Amino acid sequence: MSHRRFSGSKLVVATHNPGKLVEITDLMRPFGIETLGAAQLGLPEPEETGSTFEANAELKAHAAAQGAREPALADDSGLVVPALGGDPGIYSARWAGPTKDFSIAMTRVQKELAERDRKAHFVAVLSLAWPDGHCETFRGEVHGHLVWPPRGKRGFGYDPMFVADGHQITFGEMDPEQKHAISHRAVAFRKLVDACFR
Ligand code: IMP
Repeated sequence: MSHRRFSGSKLVVATHNPGKLVEITDLMRPFGIETLGAAQLGLPEPEETGSTFEANAELKAHAAAQGAREPALADDSGLVVPALGGDPGIYSARWAGPTKDFSIAMTRVQKELAERDRKAHFVAVLSLAWPDGHCETFRGEVHGHLVWPPRGKRGFGYDPMFVADGHQITFGEMDPEQKHAISHRAVAFRKLVDACFR
C-alpha cells in the first residue's frame, strides 16, 4: 500500500494535553520536525463524536489541519475489554469521571468484569491529516490481561491493572522505557514513521 509522505518541517499536534504534546515532540525530533500544539495555535478542541478510535483520531486531525492550514497529527487511545463488549474503549477517559480519577474507572472495570474473562488490550490510533483532506491512519495494540487489585504507581490511566502478554508485572510497575518499547502507542508510532516519515 502506498502512503503519502510528510514533506514539511512543521507539524500541528492536535491535542490540548501538554503531556501528549511533549511525547509527540520527542518522537518527531529525530526527523527534524518542529511541532506546534493545538492549544498554542488557539484551535478549538472538537467533540469526540465518533464511534471508533479511528473516527475520533481522524476527526481531531482533520479539524486541526483545516484550522491551522498545516498537516496535523492526532491520537485516540483506550482500554478494550472484550468481555465487557469492548468497554471502556473510546470512553476510557470518561469512565474516570470529571475528577479524572482512574481508581474509580479501574474499580468500575473490576466490578463489571466480576468472574468474566480478564483478557484486555490497549489500542492507540494515530491520524495524520493534510489541509486538502487526505489522511493516513495507523493502529497499534498491546494485548494482555487485567489483575486485581491494581499494582504500581508508575504510568497513568489503567496501567496498574494491565499485564502485557509475556510479562508478570503491570504497566504501573514497569520501567517507563520498557513500557514505551512495547506499548500500543509505540506500535502505532512505528507504523506512522515507517509509512510517512522515512
Ligand atoms: P484519549 O486522550 O481520548 O486518547 O484518552 C485515552 C484514555 O485511555 C486515557 O485517559 C487512559 O485512561 C486510557 N489509556 C490510553 N493509553 C493508556 C496507557 O498507555 N495506559 C493506561 N491507560 C491508557
